[in-house]
Amino acid sequence: MPIFYGKVALIDYLKSIKTKNSTVGFIPTMGALHQGHLSLMQQSLAENDYTVVSIFVNPTQFNNPEDLEKYPRTLEQDTQKIAQLNDAIIVYAPSVDDIYEGKVLSQDFDFDGLENQMEGKFRPGHFNGVGTIVKRLFEIVTPTNAYFGEKDFQQLQIIKKMVQKNNLEVNVIGCPIFRESNGLAMSSRNERLTEQQKKQSSFIFKTLTEAKEKFQTDSPKSVTEWVEESFAKNPTFELEYFQIADEATLTPCTTKNKEQKYRAFIAVFINNIRLIDTISLN
Ligand code: PAJ
Repeated sequence: MPIFYGKVALIDYLKSIKTKNSTVGFIPTMGALHQGHLSLMQQSLAENDYTVVSIFVNPTQFNNPEDLEKYPRTLEQDTQKIAQLNDAIIVYAPSVDDIYEGKVLSQDFDFDGLENQMEGKFRPGHFNGVGTIVKRLFEIVTPTNAYFGEKDFQQLQIIKKMVQKNNLEVNVIGCPIFRESNGLAMSSRNERLTEQQKKQSSFIFKTLTEAKEKFQTDSPKSVTEWVEESFAKNPTFELEYFQIADEATLTPCTTKNKEQKYRAFIAVFINNIRLIDTISLN
């Protein structure tokens, strides 16, 4: 399987294999790969001539130094998992220097307000870091299609906005959330949970599913209060936010409008490990 640690060699390789009409699918990741990541790769393999996966723990998107330090780094296992799926996948696993060339800084982006909600509010600077790395990776890989999980729905909308505002020639494709059998959304951070905490964390999706049911008849405010109370009664978790928002603008939903699509978003801590999840409501 072709693996590149530097952008110059990757760019040369892509030039050598691509013809005028070749399509390239791209999946940016931070590694510690699980089935959710692999499902994005499968979709890309089915839809493109070539598939590129990047593995890079991007320092500029971490607002919390401990989270960056503790983020799992498992390159060897990751490349094995990719090779098992399909050994024609092209892997790009750069160093911080290869990407940032000595200046580990974010660019400032305007995502038309999408960056001021939820994750943007609680993780200052996070989306400038995500925008910076994804834009840079798009410039290096020049993909036809790029695949992002709906697990990070706000990130998906932000990348779509960045592509639109900068007239980038890439289709951004959203992919469904892959879950454990107990409903817990797969995440690299789940590796830090004990077996018991993984079991307990099924509470998150269970609560989201019930919130969806309640949303069909109850007001957004009463659904939100119900979720907040449910978490207040459960000592395992510390709720950071629960938010019902419009899918397109991500602004909080106060009154329901039949023409709009709504989604619930949640961030919780379990023993200092931060988990997020989301569910479409209508
Ligand atoms: P990471 O958390 O590694 O996720 C890489 C991609 O996998 C993202 O598009 C994410 O939404 C998707 N993903 C994660 N868990 C998933 C699941 N359970 N089901 C489906 N898709 C899932 O997101 C990032 O990395 C970074 O912010 C990145 C975009 C790579 C920029 O550094």
